[in-house]
Amino acid sequence: MKQFRWIHVLLVAVAGLAGPTALAGDAAAGKGLYPVCTACHGPTGQGNQAMNAPKLAGQETWYLIKQMQLFQTDARGTAPGDMQGMQMGAMAKGPQLKGDEALANLAAYVATFPDEPPALTVTGDVEKGKALYAVCAACHGDKAQGIEAMAGPRLAGQNDWYLVSQIKKFKAGQRGYHDSDHGGRQMRPMVATLTDDQSINDVVAYINTLIE
Ligand code: HEC
Ligand code: HEC
Repeated sequence: MKQFRWIHVLLVAVAGLAGPTALAGDAAAGKGLYPVCTACHGPTGQGNQAMNAPKLAGQETWYLIKQMQLFQTDARGTAPGDMQGMQMGAMAKGPQLKGDEALANLAAYVATFPDEPPALTVTGDVEKGKALYAVCAACHGDKAQGIEAMAGPRLAGQNDWYLVSQIKKFKAGQRGYHDSDHGGRQMRPMVATLTDDQSINDVVAYINTLIE
């Protein structure tokens, strides 16, 4: 029992290093900010491949807020050729989304959405993907559940076509290119082991097996 408590204290301390304590958002206030998002991300944040817009339901609050801030400060979505990122960047700059409180409220509302498993669209060699995933686990977790202290988002349960597109953007330097995007810059060299489209599909096919 005593040992358990110490582990808990340690984990809280490590998580604290990741950044200042997040504001607790007000989901009711966030609801009024979400309608503009539905056209692309869906009414319950389920994602929409036709719009290239990923699932938001089930993603962690700290990560959603951070991505919105990256888009707002042009640290994401401004690379040449990144049409989807540019579209999203324009949306993130809506005047109603200015400030930590608005983003915390919006993320709290997104956190009320049911986290449904997405339709699977990517096939690959799961065994090869498992071996490729070994290096990813340090930041994204054994179950691809995300590790906030490493700034690594949850990957399991995200739309698989979106995981593929983002890995390609890291490879092309369309994500993780900005000086202030520390997480993205850490992620960028990690795609070096994914040498071709087949290995990207393989690792994503393995991540698909981790959906609970
Ligand atoms: C015009 C369509 C469109 C609208 C409207 C839109 N988005 Fe997006 N969003 C996108 C696209 C496309 C991407 C993927 C960008 C990329 O490929 O890098 C995206 C990405 C994101 C991401 C990054 C997710 C991740 O895991 O990397 C977040 C967070 C997000 N959107 C939140 C929102 C919120 C909140 C709203 C409403 C305020 C919104 N979006 C409105 C199209 C849209
Ligand atoms: C050193 C830590 C680290 C390792 C190792 C790592 N990543 Fe990441 N990854 C990150 C961080 C940090 C981000 C978030 C970047 C940001 O904030 O924009 C990220 C983002 C991603 C994203 C985008 C997810 C989204 O919703 O936008 C994908 C996909 C991804 N990583 C896949 C992988 C794969 C596959 C591997 C192994 C080949 C890997 N990562 C290894 C740190 C890492």
